[in-house]
Amino acid sequence: MELLGMTTIFLLVCISCLLLFATWRSISQNQKQPPGPIALPIIGNLLHLDPWNLPESLKKLSGKYGPVFTVHLGPKKAVVLYGYDVVKEALIDQADDFSGRGILPLFRKLFQGSGIVTSNGETWKQLRRFALTTLRDFGMGKKSIEERIQEEAHFLVERIRNTHEQPFNPGAFLIHAVSNIICSVVFGDRFDYGDKKFLTLIELLEENNRLQNSVQPQLYNFFPTLMDYLPGPHQKLIKNIAKVDQFTFDIVAEHQKTLDPTCPRDFIDAFLNKMEQEKGNSHSEFTLETLNRTTLDLFLAGTGTTSTTLRHGLLILLKYPEIVEKIQKEIDCVVGRNRSPCMADRSQMPYTDAVVHEIQRYIDFLPLNVPHSVIKDTKFRDYFIPKDTLIFPMLSSVLHDSKEFPNPEKFDPGHFLNANGTFKKSDYFMPFSAGKRICAGKGLARMEIFIFLTSILQNFTLKPVMDHKDIDITPLVSSLANIPRPYEVSFVPR
Ligand code: HEM
Ligand SMILES: *[C@@H]1O[C@H](CO)[C@@H](O)[C@H](O)[C@H]1NC(C)=O
Ligand SMILES: *[C@@H]1O[C@H](CO)[C@@H](O)[C@H](O)[C@H]1NC(C)=O
Repeated sequence: MELLGMTTIFLLVCISCLLLFATWRSISQNQKQPPGPIALPIIGNLLHLDPWNLPESLKKLSGKYGPVFTVHLGPKKAVVLYGYDVVKEALIDQADDFSGRGILPLFRKLFQGSGIVTSNGETWKQLRRFALTTLRDFGMGKKSIEERIQEEAHFLVERIRNTHEQPFNPGAFLIHAVSNIICSVVFGDRFDYGDKKFLTLIELLEENNRLQNSVQPQLYNFFPTLMDYLPGPHQKLIKNIAKVDQFTFDIVAEHQKTLDPTCPRDFIDAFLNKMEQEKGNSHSEFTLETLNRTTLDLFLAGTGTTSTTLRHGLLILLKYPEIVEKIQKEIDCVVGRNRSPCMADRSQMPYTDAVVHEIQRYIDFLPLNVPHSVIKDTKFRDYFIPKDTLIFPMLSSVLHDSKEFPNPEKFDPGHFLNANGTFKKSDYFMPFSAGKRICAGKGLARMEIFIFLTSILQNFTLKPVMDHKDIDITPLVSSLANIPRPYEVSFVPR
């Protein structure tokens, strides 16, 4: 009894101290920092945040604390920007201040070192500029990127034709096609769909997509040191990425052996040439290490994103045959049946363009964006945000804004159409984010989505295995990335 009493008192004292400490910390640091729920030491705001559904938790908090608020992921402080106005003010009007990359512990673990996605400062500036120009120039070499995509679309369509209307999950076909585009641009060649090494690589990526959405990787971002010791899917994830690393390193090594500086075949060759140019410069950002990481970054950033968007897009189209019919009418009218769709067709296909935009808006693939940070002490609105604070400019709050997109939870191509049927542009269309960190593969991704989808619908009509009205197009797990529910479809030749 006595002992129990002592323990209770001891615990109460402890809890009071913790609460006091937490309050003291938030007051003492508060030179008007953004408001937010009181954080406990160590666990931060874990009690206010559902690791299974961060976007929803943050939406609730924004209802209470407004468009700029503070949350603690474990001990780490982050500022959330919720709604178009603040996201735009930060990423566009104060672009420089907010151009830092905030690195969550899981990211640090997976992408050690510096490619484009996770680097900052001069390294980031130079690697990003180089990647953008090199990707743009890839008329360098024999084929333009657009031609590569058309060629891949052709392989994809033939592969689908060989399924003879049997229903199947199209995920693997899409990921093969999409990653082949990156392979072609970065590694110099596509892989045959039956290639053993390629299949192993893709399997790793697919497994990672599944693993990423389990709860442990989210918890890793709260408690990295602890999670390092615990078994679970996050450990498998870390191992898998190391294998993908090895795959890209091998390709880099192969390129070093076979490089002909006068005739760069691909991104890696261009990078090797750049390294040679900068050989005298001991501060050069172009090194074997940054080459390895940049190659891996492009591969990882370019594959899962685009293929998941296509997979989710096809599910949505499967639910709405009347939308497919309208797209097919446009295809028949503008492209016909005898040549591949190309980007020049898009301006004459406002309905299709609207559907593609609406797919990206609706699926809201990266609801939290990829975290940013402020690169210096920053004044934002009336608040003070200290250098290096983690920032979440939430894309879902922009893509689901109900003033711009009435009924934002509904899939409606009308969100991107004028009353007279022309395409309606929107500043709120930010699936690739905005400002200085805007997706470096945006142009490539949009080309792929447009050409792959129109090539498929030029050749096939989609047939579901269940009633249209039973198809659930809402995302399966709403955490760092939104993914579609598993489904099967049969492709009926037109
Ligand atoms: C539908 C497909 C895609 C979506 C939705 C998407 C979305 C995004 C988003 C939201 C970011 C973070 C932007 C920010 O920090 O503000 C990003 C960054 C990035 N993406 Fe994409 N992306 C897609 C496809 C691609 C492709 C195909 C590539 C490959 C070339 C790529 C390469 C990158 C890179 C390198 C970054 C880092 C940029 C930086 O930190 O400066 N992405 N992407
Ligand atoms: C980069 O890849 C090359 C080629 O495989 C390898 O030899 C080298 O050790 C890697 N370097 C770093 C720093 O990761
Ligand atoms: C269609 O409507 C939009 C805005 O409502 C307008 O800007 C555009 O000029 C119109 N186009 C035609 C062809 O009528």
